[in-house]
Amino acid sequence: MEHEARLPVRPDPRHLREILASDVDRPIRHRAQIADLVVDWSRQPVTDSVLAELHEIARGTGVAEAFGRMAAGERVNQTEDRAVLHMALRAPSSARFEVDGVNVVPEVHAVLDAMRSIADRVRSDEQITDIVNIGIGGSDLGPAMAVRALRSSGHPRLRAHFVSNVDGADIQSALSGLDPERTLFIVVSKTFTTTETIANAQTAREWLTSRLGEDAVADHFIAVSTAADKVAAFGIDPARTLGFWEWVGGRYSVWSAVGLSLMIMIGPRAFDEFLAGAHAVDTVMTQGFTSDGGTAQNPIVTLAMIGILHRDVLGRGSKAVIPYAQDLDRLPAYLQQLDMESNGKSVRSDGTPVTMPTGPVIWGEPGTNGQHAFFQLLHQGTDVIPVDFIGFAQPNHAHQQHHDLLMANLFAQAEALALGQDGGGNPHRHFPGDRPSTLILAERLTPSTLGQILAMYEHLVFVQGVVWGIDSFDQWGVELGKILARRIAPQLAVDEELPEGTDPSTASAITWYRGHRTR
Ligand code: F6P
Repeated sequence: MEHEARLPVRPDPRHLREILASDVDRPIRHRAQIADLVVDWSRQPVTDSVLAELHEIARGTGVAEAFGRMAAGERVNQTEDRAVLHMALRAPSSARFEVDGVNVVPEVHAVLDAMRSIADRVRSDEQITDIVNIGIGGSDLGPAMAVRALRSSGHPRLRAHFVSNVDGADIQSALSGLDPERTLFIVVSKTFTTTETIANAQTAREWLTSRLGEDAVADHFIAVSTAADKVAAFGIDPARTLGFWEWVGGRYSVWSAVGLSLMIMIGPRAFDEFLAGAHAVDTVMTQGFTSDGGTAQNPIVTLAMIGILHRDVLGRGSKAVIPYAQDLDRLPAYLQQLDMESNGKSVRSDGTPVTMPTGPVIWGEPGTNGQHAFFQLLHQGTDVIPVDFIGFAQPNHAHQQHHDLLMANLFAQAEALALGQDGGGNPHRHFPGDRPSTLILAERLTPSTLGQILAMYEHLVFVQGVVWGIDSFDQWGVELGKILARRIAPQLAVDEELPEGTDPSTASAITWYRGHRTR
């Protein structure tokens, strides 16, 4: 879909080299503290007046009101008629978040208590050495990313494995070498109907029962789901099922029982810190609005609106997120789901077409690895791709020299992208520069700062969705493929004629597959 509409905002037209040279205070004015995060957008093409215009757009599109409606438990996920209250998942027990007049915070804390008792039991049970989280999308990416991010504080005896893909290679490699007596499976699915997860859970169950017998399921399986009836039908004891709620979107669910594997690995106290970090950012977001809907003092809205500037004024279709932290290697994948499943929409909440380009493609890899792969394009390619650089002052390992080198690279890349360098007549050695980036820095990667980073991105995605007028909390775009896969699956193993109306390309691919599949 082509969109001619561009927002009537003019970014600072000067080269970033000039912008930075003319304004030495810029990194002081164009930065903010978001809880413990230092966020520096001094290398973005904005002046105070551009930012003021962007904040006027945020005010005009009702960002503050929309945030208030979400926090008040209104059904802001209109197309699914659901409230959206992931903020309640990380609120202290004294807080109030209501859905249909009922405060949900006590239920949230009851589930957290149940998670704590499971986590404590598993952590102290010498018998268990491996936990296998079976889930996909939001039921996988959050815990998988966070367990990896916080692996330096992982339990020394326990290993966590994540199985998501219906490709049998995934479960086969997870199970290989595991001892069934010492393995705990956590099946995570909001709906408990997701094909991949059910297939993997069944395979895990067969693997377990063929070795230990049917009774072993009771001790070796836990489920996390909103669909207790379906979990029971699968054969997992309701007493070993942790619930969550329809007002928690899959990609916003790592804070709920979906994070059980994370809590087991890092311990309940660290999980509390993770929640508290996110809650601190919720507070920054909540307090960043004025009573008349003003957003100018809200640094998360600033970041979101800089993204809008790139997407809807400068026509930039992608954004790279580069954590200079190997432990955050799954963060880009996590943010892909968060942002692209939320804002990859082309109709507004009321069903009318959007008027501007919406969610960008989010991608990335940790630095410095990315430097030796795709940074060539970032520096000299024909597309300008804004970058979020994430880095930490202190490492979670003992190799300080490595860390200094790592951070030197982060700072160097941000500078090189912004300033560029004259090629001295050699066009191949010319770096155009003027390539924007934002720095997101924290003292250390901890449960708290990880929670802060994730919550910051959640709110950024929310603000952009409001500006575009879309429902950031549904995901109808993934349904069609699921329906077709369910229709095609039974056709692959038989030689019957394909149903009338099968399109010729699909028919040809199925015929080829039938002829070559393993019998
Ligand atoms: O296919 C998309 C999706 O619905 C995601 O939104 C969700 O996180 C994932 O599938 C898994 O869903 P469930 O937790 O219901 O298995």
